[in-house]
This record gives sequence, structure tokens and C-alpha cells, in this order.
Amino acid sequence: MMRYLPGLLLIALASVGITLVLVSRPQPAPEHPPAPISSAVLDRLPARRAGQVLIYGAYGFTGAGIARLASEYGITPVLAGRNESKLRPLAEELGYDYVVLSLENNHDNLVKVLSRFEIVLHIAGPYTFTAGPMLNAAVESGTHYLDLTGENHVIQQQLDRDEEFRRADIMVMPAVGYDVVPTDCLNVYVAAKIRRPTQLTVVLDGSFTDAAGAQASRGTMKSALEMLGRPLLKRENGAMVPMGTPRLMHRSEAGREQTLLQIPWADMMTSYVSTGIPNIEVFQVQEGELPEWLLRVAQNEAGRRILSWLIDNFAPEGPPPGAQEQRQTRIVSTVSNDAGATASAALITPEAYLLTFHSTLIVARRVIDGHWEPGFQTVGKVYGPDLVLEVPGVSRADL
Ligand SMILES: NC(=O)c1ccc[n+]([C@@H]2O[C@H](COP(=O)([O-])OP(=O)(O)OC[C@H]3O[C@@H](n4cnc5c(N)ncnc54)[C@H](OP(=O)(O)O)[C@@H]3O)[C@@H](O)[C@H]2O)c1
Repeated sequence: MMRYLPGLLLIALASVGITLVLVSRPQPAPEHPPAPISSAVLDRLPARRAGQVLIYGAYGFTGAGIARLASEYGITPVLAGRNESKLRPLAEELGYDYVVLSLENNHDNLVKVLSRFEIVLHIAGPYTFTAGPMLNAAVESGTHYLDLTGENHVIQQQLDRDEEFRRADIMVMPAVGYDVVPTDCLNVYVAAKIRRPTQLTVVLDGSFTDAAGAQASRGTMKSALEMLGRPLLKRENGAMVPMGTPRLMHRSEAGREQTLLQIPWADMMTSYVSTGIPNIEVFQVQEGELPEWLLRVAQNEAGRRILSWLIDNFAPEGPPPGAQEQRQTRIVSTVSNDAGATASAALITPEAYLLTFHSTLIVARRVIDGHWEPGFQTVGKVYGPDLVLEVPGVSRADL
């Protein structure tokens, strides 16, 4: 019997692998566009678009958090997403209208719906797959577009379409959540303290005040996988260049030994636009290490699909309410220039998702109130360094 054991184990492992590949296969995109959206559905949508907000991806962890808080900002959104059985209960609970709408191969319906809204809050990710169709529809319908992407390649694609967005007279502003509202605002703040800054270093401590419960939502983990599957880039001398092996730094902070890991945070795209600083590095206080095998599996498309499926089926939805209320983060930004001048400042913020719910609505409110600029835009550039201080629980200090 023992001599068959290795063979049996191999067969068992191969069966698990094949099963995972099969169950994680993506739904093929519909070959034909769905039927035109009915006039009965369109009649339920706002007749005048001014002040109207569509939340797409509303029943995801973050979309639902934003939808629940919208009324505090005087916003009565219409909720949208592709799955009616998830969308309807949320809409009924909150008393908002809803519209069922898929993204793939559905351009005409997306345009018809978006034409009824001044802004779309696009909260469905990974944005690698979702940003394109929504942006195309936003351009054609003349709808302002805000999203939460932290995927640098997606932000680059948006930046490349700046002219098109200007011609459509819409504002496209990515990353209006924790990634990157606090960092971008802080970076703009410190950049103004010295002449011609040439280097910007940002350090994120996501558990400055720690709490039990998940750190990230499923959507965030899956979006991170999409980044791990691509070459990691960093901002150097104004260009995005390969990062090579991410840098590790060690420091002693308030009596605690910490390891800092270089990460591909979206500031390298957005704060370059906001501040023009040509060298940008972002580090996070290391929370355990990513195993080597995980990085290797994420390099491969089938590997990413299996990991996504495992995340969808086994990972927690996101940080529970208790963790959202207790956890705080600390962000330190430091600038320097060729003359040797430096400046640093720090932000204490609430937990990342709670901050995201607020910051998304704060930006949406600004747009409704007429404060927006056409084209690809960043939060710090359009709204300045103090916008983040409007999020309850945020404080800033010079160091
Ligand atoms: N910038 C930030 O700081 C920040 C903060 C929070 C979240 N985020 C990002 O926001 C996104 C959503 O996060 P989450 O926490 O809400 O994740 P989640 O709970 O997994 O929800 C994802 C949502 O996106 C929808 N979706 C995914 N693919 C879609 C597709 N192809 N077509 C239509 N809908 C699709 C999902 O609908 P189904 O259930 O029907 O698939 C669901 O509504 C992620 O990309 C995440 O990284 C960023």
C-alpha cells in the first residue's frame, strides 16, 4: 500500500488542481449585446441629470459602504450592478432606486443609463477589467467619472485619454479612496514647503492603531493580484521604470522595530500629476511577508484566476465594523530637493475603508456643487491639500 502512496497523492493533487482550474474559469463575455434596456426601466431613472449620482458596483463591500453613507452628504444615489439578486435587497433596505446593468459588450445600454446622471461612482473592480467599458460610456454620455482604482496601469490608461475626456467636457478622477486621497493631499501639502522638490517618499502604516479583523476586502485583494501579475514600476526621473526587487528598509519607530517594504502605490502616478516631483517612492510598514510561491502563482493568468476564486469563496468580505471604528493609519510624507532642503508631515486617518466611504462622497459632493475640471484629474491638484481634513477623524501635523 505504502508504495502506491506517492502516486495516489500526486493523483489527488492533480485532481484538486484540475478542479480549481475548471471552477475558476471566467464566464465568457456575451457574444451579442444584451437586449436594449426597456423604457419602463429608463422611466424610473432621473429625468434631469443635475445632481444625480449612479453608484456602480453598489452591492460590493465598498459600494455598499458608500451607498449607506450617501444621505449624510445630501446625495440620493441610484444603485447599479450586474446581479439583481444582490442589488435589489440593498436598494430596498436603503430605499433607493436601482438599475441592473452589465459592463461587457453593453455599451449602448450603459450610455442610455449614464446619460441620466451627472456622476458615476464606479466602485466595481478589479479595474483592469471594469474601467474601460464604463469610461467609454462616460465619454459618450458626458458623465463625470470617479473610481477607486489603485492599479497603476489602469491610471496610466486614463491619463493617456486626457484629451478625449477634455473634449467630452467631463472630469475623470481615479483613486478617490484611501488610495490616494490622504497621500495625495499630504504630498501636495509637503511639496509646497520647499523649493523645487525632486524626491518624495511616502510611508504608510496601515495598523498604527491596530484592531482584530480583516485588513482588506476581496475586491482589494483581487485588484492587488492584477498588479502582482504585471511588472512592478516606480517613478524615477519623471518616468515609470521597472522597480526590480522592491526595496526593504528597517527602522525603529516609537520603540518598535519595523520593516518597510516598497510598494507600487498609485501615488507614483497621481502625485506625479499633482506635484510634478520626478522621483516618488512609497513604502508600507510590513504586515507579514508575501510567500514566494504566491508571487510566482500570481504571475500566471490561470494562477490569478484560481487565487481570485479562492478569495471570493474563502476570504472575509472586508474589515468588520468594529475594526473600521478602531483601526487608524498613519502616513508620513517627506520631500527633499537638490539643495538639501527637506520637509515632512504626517496624517493620522481612520481605517482605510471607512475613510474611502467618506472621501468618495466628499469628492462627489464637490462635483455636484460645480467644482470640477475637465480631463484626467487628481484629488490634490483640483481640491488642494486640505480636502482630506474634511474626512471625520483625520488630523495633520508638521514633523
Ligand atoms: N482606492 C482605495 O483605497 C479602495 C478602497 C476600497 C476598494 N477599492 C477598490 O474598489 C473595488 C471594489 O472593492 P470592494 O471592496 O467593493 O470589492 P468586492 O466586495 O469584491 O466588490 C466588487 C464589486 O465589483 C463588482 N464587479 C467585479 N467585476 C465586475 C464586472 N466585470 N462587471 C460588473 N461588476 C463587477 C462585483 O459584482 P459581482 O459580485 O457581481 O461580481 C461587486 O459589486 C476594488 O477594485 C478595490 O480594489 C479601492
